[in-house]
This record gives sequence, structure tokens and C-alpha cells, in this order.
Amino acid sequence: MTLEELEKSARGAIKDATVREALEEIRIHYLGRKGELTNILRSLKELPLEERKSIGPRANALRNDLEDLLAEAAAKFGQAEEKIVDISAPGKKAVRGHIHPLSRVQAEAVKIFEGLNFSVVLGPEVESEHYNFDALNIPANHPAREMWDTFWLKPQQKVEKEKMLLRTHTSPVQVRYMEEHEPPFQIVVPGRVFRYEATDQSHEINFYQLEGLMVGRDVNLGNFKFIIEEFLRKFFGKKIDFRFRPSYFPFTEPSVEVDIKLGGKWLEVMGAGMVSPRVFEYAHYNPRDWQGFAFGVGIDRLAMIKYGIPDIRLFYSGDLRFIRQF
Ligand code: PHE
Repeated sequence: MTLEELEKSARGAIKDATVREALEEIRIHYLGRKGELTNILRSLKELPLEERKSIGPRANALRNDLEDLLAEAAAKFGQAEEKIVDISAPGKKAVRGHIHPLSRVQAEAVKIFEGLNFSVVLGPEVESEHYNFDALNIPANHPAREMWDTFWLKPQQKVEKEKMLLRTHTSPVQVRYMEEHEPPFQIVVPGRVFRYEATDQSHEINFYQLEGLMVGRDVNLGNFKFIIEEFLRKFFGKKIDFRFRPSYFPFTEPSVEVDIKLGGKWLEVMGAGMVSPRVFEYAHYNPRDWQGFAFGVGIDRLAMIKYGIPDIRLFYSGDLRFIRQF
């Protein structure tokens, strides 16, 4: 191949290159270690002096030209690769996530109680029979155990002394906390609870509760009434009518059910009462020294009422069309 032919084909190839990688191939083909032009340059020394004098400078000049051309072409690709920012284009809308209504309601409730000087305490979801039942004055075979359909867990080891379960309410944390702390105090315990039940629009096998416990020298039901009044007013953003209805829980005496009046209807939102002396005894408090109230409010219930959600199962459906509304 003559130098002229080589130059023509190399220039054509560089001009036709459509991607950066093609340029590298061209460079190797002509200027690489075994490239066409390299071969010519290498064979110069075998040529007669006259030819060497005429071809040598031209071949070297061509090598420089091709190198320049390749660099130029590469620069063009470099520019094309850079992203051009059109600052006049309409912006892309950032997609915002949504906070699950149960998380939102739980956070709101916790914040209100913190404002009333309550501390937040947590307890385990896998609980022992002792804390979930016995220490709350619900011994085995007590008919009240039927109030809580229970998921019992298979024993993990033969040596395990105690039967374990998924907690059916947040009340076991009452005793756990009292065992480790001296009154006076006031705490709330948000958390997930489990019931072995058939599901329908107002029942789920798991849901959320917020437990409250206030213990002092002479804490009474009037104090509870004030706290609940404050909580409901802050939570619903207006004064809420409520009533105490006599009820029964083995761990409170007396026990009440709190109903709130909304849209002309009475709706049950929590169980409550004065802490039973038996529970204080289990926690190694002297029941003659201390009194307190406890309550357990359903977070799901509050969320359903506040946002007009007709079916508790929607919370757990994972349906984004539901979540995106919050
Ligand atoms: N633990 C009870 C329940 O889940 C609610 C409750 C809590 C009642 C505290 C009284 C005092 O049904």
C-alpha cells in the first residue's frame, strides 16, 4: 500500500467513525505496534537512501496528522457525551413517600402524652405467659383468659420453663416497668399486639395499642378523666364528649370502657381502670402505698375514627392506593 492510499483510507475511516471505540480500533490498525503506518516507518531503514529521504518525512508527517485527526474526532465524541442541561425545561416532580396512617396516629398520640409529661416505654412482642397473663391477675383457667384469644408459641427448648406467646395486649409492659422503677411515674407504651381471631372489618390478627400507666401516692380516676379529656381534645382538635361505662378487666378495679361521641354515635375507644392491688403485688409494690390508673387505647380504632376508614384490614393490605391518601 502506498502512503497516499494509506492516508486516504485512514482519513475516510476516521471520518466515518460513529463511536469513540471505533477511533481506538483505527488507531491500532494504522498506528499500533503492528499498524500499517508503523510497518512502513519500521521498514524505512531497509530502503535505499534516496527513497528513505523522500518517504521518511512524509510518513512521519502522516503519523502526526493521523494522531491529530484522531484526537479531534475523539474530542467531538467527548462533547456529545456530556449531558446538555435545558434549564428552561419543566422540573421533574419529586415523588414523596407517605407515612402509614397507623404510624402517623401512633406518633401523634405519643407526642400528646409526652406533652402531658408521660415517658415512652417499649416491651417485647414475644412475651411470657407470666407477664401477659399471670402477673396481670389472669391465672391459668381464669375465665377472663377467654377475652384474649392467644397465639401460643412452640417451646424452643425442652428446658424452657415458661410458655411463650405473642402478646395479646400491651398491658404486660405495666408489670415489666414497675419491677424496675419506683413510683411516682407516668408512662405510655405503644406497640403491636396479636389475637388469634377470625378477621372482619373491625378485627385483625394483629393491631396496635397504646398502654398508659400512671402511679403515685393518690392518683385517682379524676386524674385519669383529666388526662383523657386532654388527650381526646388534642387528638381530634376539638372538645370531645366521652363517657365511662362500667366494665371488667382482671388487672383493674374498678374497670371502665371509654366511649367517645362522634357524629351522634357512641364509639368504644379504650379499656381502663384503677390498677388492681394484685398487680401491684406482682410488681412488688405495697398496694397500701400506691395507687394508679391504666388504660389501653386501640391505635387502629383511633385511626379509623379520625380518618373515616371503614375496614381495619385496609391498614395491613399493603395497597398503595390506600396508603397514598395519607
Ligand atoms: N389490656 C386491655 C385490652 O387489651 C385494655 C386495658 C388496658 C384495660 C389497661 C385496662 C387497663 O383489652
